[in-house]
Amino acid sequence: DEDLDAVARDILTSNDRGGYTIPTAGLYPFQWNWDSAFAAWGFSTFDADRAWTELETLFSAQWTTGMVPHIVFHQEDDGYFPGPDVWATGTTPATSGISQPPVAAILARLIHDSVGGTERLRALYPKLLAWHRWWRESRMAHGIACVAHPWESGRDNCPDWDPGMANVDTTGIGPYQRRDTGHVDAAMRPGKEDYDRYLAMVKFGRDCGWDQEKIRDDGPFLMGDPAITFILVRANRDLAAIAEALGEDGAVPAAWADEMEAALPWLWSESLQAYAARDVRTGTFAGTISSGAALGLLAGVENAAMEEKLAAMWDRVRYGIPSNDPATPSFEPRRYWRGPTWPVVNALIAVGLKSAGRIADEARLRRETAELIRRGGFYEYFDPMDGTACGGDQFTWTAAIWLAWAN
Ligand code: DGY
Repeated sequence: DEDLDAVARDILTSNDRGGYTIPTAGLYPFQWNWDSAFAAWGFSTFDADRAWTELETLFSAQWTTGMVPHIVFHQEDDGYFPGPDVWATGTTPATSGISQPPVAAILARLIHDSVGGTERLRALYPKLLAWHRWWRESRMAHGIACVAHPWESGRDNCPDWDPGMANVDTTGIGPYQRRDTGHVDAAMRPGKEDYDRYLAMVKFGRDCGWDQEKIRDDGPFLMGDPAITFILVRANRDLAAIAEALGEDGAVPAAWADEMEAALPWLWSESLQAYAARDVRTGTFAGTISSGAALGLLAGVENAAMEEKLAAMWDRVRYGIPSNDPATPSFEPRRYWRGPTWPVVNALIAVGLKSAGRIADEARLRRETAELIRRGGFYEYFDPMDGTACGGDQFTWTAAIWLAWAN
């Protein structure tokens, strides 16, 4: 594995654009929010200074509202759509107008635990806190963390979002030119109907000047996200622990975590026997269990009925936790978030398994993920049935989690 370690380090350094890392050349040529947090984790295994810089660069694009945008357009690149002109947020640097899963505090704590950097963490702490407050103020309903766009969930075309997507009106979305399908096989990407809806949501945000409260209250899409809810519970607890390590008072984030945990019943689907995505506008639950539910352990949520369902789902595939349950008709093993297994999500699930003391399961997940990478390379995601490598190659977060966890 030493050779692969070197390849992984090389991917991180060659995707480095000076203070930030692109997910992969071509397909994703800017800085992405949660990708960067994982990149920092990867860098921390060989360059602690560069790890902190990655997070600092991301937070340098934080909005005055506390939101940390999902894409930061540090430089121009025509190879991606929708670019800064479509988002039209008017910010400097140019950014998108939505956020992405708040994993930064979780990874900052892991990085600090392993390589130190207390003063860098101290400077980040108020920014992390402000971002978590933004989630609370601008993306919450029924006490649950919600997403106003599937891109905000990071799990773009997951069937979790099908109920909300069905109600998005695409009237007035004229012709446009996608770029993603020029970089990877269209069969591994979201469909045109998905993109029409994604753009309708962007249009709503642009038209209201990115008024996030309006987007939450009146936007075309708002769904409760079990993954972000679990991530935010964990991230708030980690922030409380960080505060303690810094000699500050972590009571506020600790209380936020408790409150959110108490609100979890709203996300419980009786028919799935699992926490599941739920449409805030209609109350409708997603029709499938996804890898989002498997992040429950991150938040210390251990539900026996759900764990049984998740174990059965895992046993239906050969490699890793699938993004969607193969037992449902919506399962497509190679289409982005409708079935593939994602090394980066497996790594995050593993953090939860470790916290829960599920050592054998954590080892199995690591073994299966490592095998995918050894056989297929540092791809974005993989077919969980036969291990086929999918999406972008030379992928930053796959290399990062190899170094920090899977190797
Ligand atoms: C994309 O363009 O596919 C991204 O996932 C959006 O963040």
